[in-house]
Amino acid sequence: MQAVILAGGKGTRLRPLTVYTPKPIVPVVNRPFLLYQIEVLRRAGIKNITLSLSYQPDKIEDVLGDGSEYGVELRFITEPNPLGTGGAYRFAADELRETTVVLNGDILTDFDLSTILSFHREKGSAATLALKSVEDPRTYGLVESDTDGRILRFIEKPKPEDLDELAVNTINAGIYVLEPAILDLIPKGENRSFEYDVFPEIMGRKMPFFAYVLDSEYWRDIGTPASYLTAHHDFLDGTIKGFELERSQHTDIATAAIVDSRSVLGDDCVIKPGARVSNSVLGPGVHVEEKAVVENSVIWAHTRISTAADIRDAVIGRSCHIGRNVVVSAGSVLGDKTALTDYTKV
Ligand code: GDD
Ligand code: MG
Repeated sequence: MQAVILAGGKGTRLRPLTVYTPKPIVPVVNRPFLLYQIEVLRRAGIKNITLSLSYQPDKIEDVLGDGSEYGVELRFITEPNPLGTGGAYRFAADELRETTVVLNGDILTDFDLSTILSFHREKGSAATLALKSVEDPRTYGLVESDTDGRILRFIEKPKPEDLDELAVNTINAGIYVLEPAILDLIPKGENRSFEYDVFPEIMGRKMPFFAYVLDSEYWRDIGTPASYLTAHHDFLDGTIKGFELERSQHTDIATAAIVDSRSVLGDDCVIKPGARVSNSVLGPGVHVEEKAVVENSVIWAHTRISTAADIRDAVIGRSCHIGRNVVVSAGSVLGDKTALTDYTKV
C-alpha cells in the first residue's frame, strides 16, 4: 500500500502566506502542515508516501527530508509543468501499480484511514472517495451517493441550480482509495483533473465507484486564511484531537505578562511585562513587547510585536515588524517581512 499526496497547487487563496512558504508546509500549530497527513497515513500503516509537487518543490523537500524522522519513506516527484490533480497522480504513481491512497495536500483530518480501506475492499471498488457533509458545498465537489454507497453524481464547484437539483450536502473530502485501473484512464504526461475528467469518466464506464461518508471525524480544507486560522482555534480548544501539541519550555515570559493555557508558544519567544497572549499560536522567536495584546491569532516565527500593539483574529507571517500602538484587526493577513509603522491601523 502506498500513498500519493497532491501538493503541487500554488496556494493562491492562502496568499500572502504562500508567497515564500508553499501551502503544504505552512506551519499549523508550529508544525509543517503535511506532517499531520503523514501521521494519519503512518497510523494506518502506510509508510511509502510520494509527494507530488510542482510549486516551490525544493523548499518542501528541505523541510520534510526523507521521512525517516517521522517513521515513513518519502519520495518527491516534481512535474515539469502542473498536470492537474489526475495527471499528477498518474505522473507520481505510474510505475507503482498497486492500491493507492491519494490525499489532497491541504486537508486536515484525524480520520482513521483503515476504515475506508476496509470499506473499499468489501465493496470491490475501483475508486472510493471519502465524503463530508458541509453547510455550504459551493467551493467543493458535490457528490451524491445511494444508500449502498455507490456514487451517482459528482459536480465540481456546483452552481446554484445544481444545488437546487441535488438536495445533498456531501462533498468530496479529497481522500481517495484508487486501484491501478484508474491510472489507465489518464493519458501519461497529459493534464487531467480528477474532479472534471477522471471521476466523470469512472461513472461513464460504470466502474465500481463508492463513497464513504465521514461522520464525527474532524475534516477541514486549510486553503484559505479564514480556514487556516479556524484550524488553529480548533486545535487550541480541543475540537481536533489525537495530535500532540508541542508547547516549548524555552520561552521567556515575564511574571507580569499573561499567557493563557490554550496558547502555544515556540522556542525562544519573549513576552514582556504587561503583555497579554490568549488563544493564539506564536512561532519560534516571536517577541511581544510591553502591554501588547495578541488574541485569537497566529504569529509566524521571528515576528516582533511592539509596545501596546493590539492584534486580534489575525494571521501574521514571518519576520514582521509590528510597530508601537499598531492595531491589527480581525481578518487581517500580513505577509512575511511586513513592517507596520507605529500607530498604523489595518
Ligand atoms: N501535483 C499537483 N499538480 N498538485 C495539484 C495540482 C497539480 O497540477 N493542482 C492542484 N493540486 C493539489 C493542490 O496542491 C491541493 O493540495 C489539491 O491538489 C487540491 O487542489 P485545491 O486547489 O486545493 O482544490 P480545491 O480545494 O478547490 O478543491 C478540491 O478539494 C476539495 C476538498 O477540499 C477538490 O478535490 C474538491 O472536489 C474537494 O471538495
Ligand atoms: Mg483545497
